Amino acid sequence: MKITKFDEINSTNEYLSRKIHMEEFEVVIAKKQTSGKGKRGRVWISNEGAALFSFSVKFDEMLQEKITIFTGYIVYSILLNYLSENQKEKLTFKWPNDIYYENKKICGILCEKIRDFIIVGIGINVNNTDFGIFSEKAISLYEITGKEEEPDKIIEEIVTMFIDEVGSINRKWDKILQTINEKSYLKNKKIKIKTEFDVGERIYKFIRVDRTGRICLMVKGDPEESAYESLDFEIID
Ligand code: BTN
Repeated sequence: MKITKFDEINSTNEYLSRKIHMEEFEVVIAKKQTSGKGKRGRVWISNEGAALFSFSVKFDEMLQEKITIFTGYIVYSILLNYLSENQKEKLTFKWPNDIYYENKKICGILCEKIRDFIIVGIGINVNNTDFGIFSEKAISLYEITGKEEEPDKIIEEIVTMFIDEVGSINRKWDKILQTINEKSYLKNKKIKIKTEFDVGERIYKFIRVDRTGRICLMVKGDPEESAYESLDFEIID
């Protein structure tokens, strides 16, 4: 595993994407990012104390469908080790790949296909406590446990588990899905679908994440389920 560390960089995803010769499982870690990228063109507040890193995985059609959920599952499993029994209950998985503690986000994941690779970018709030405009919606491990942790240690544990388990992803897929469905943040939440222009009126409920990683939703009183590969949505309670 080749690891490159920066005190400051624009974005670890961006750095890896621009590399001409990329190896598999090349890891880039930054203490700070000046242009941290989130999903759907959003920013990712990237202050010191957070675990900010990206690594490359060889592109494979079968893997592409599963990689975001699989990565979320790995991060979720590692973070559990840092929590007490009572705290573990409050850690959930929000489709497609965010990790929540109660009603606040502790980790975001951005997977991007670049040439023959998928770049997996992960941001975990470890010791950082300044979330800028997202202060109401974000939380760090430190705020939960009151203990500082070493971001590099958490990163190494995540990448090592990813590498160890990615080869058996198909065999373990049902068990992974069972875990992320049981621990879904969206359970019993009311959901409205967002489009480019507005938020729809219909109220959906979360049913499950299916075998191909799609979110299955249902409208109350309608027996038909709808499944989405990608979706922007809003939670209304
Ligand atoms: C999201 O939830 O919107 C995804 C956030 C992903 C943030 C990480 S931080 C490390 C890597 N580099 C980036 O620029 N983004 C990802």
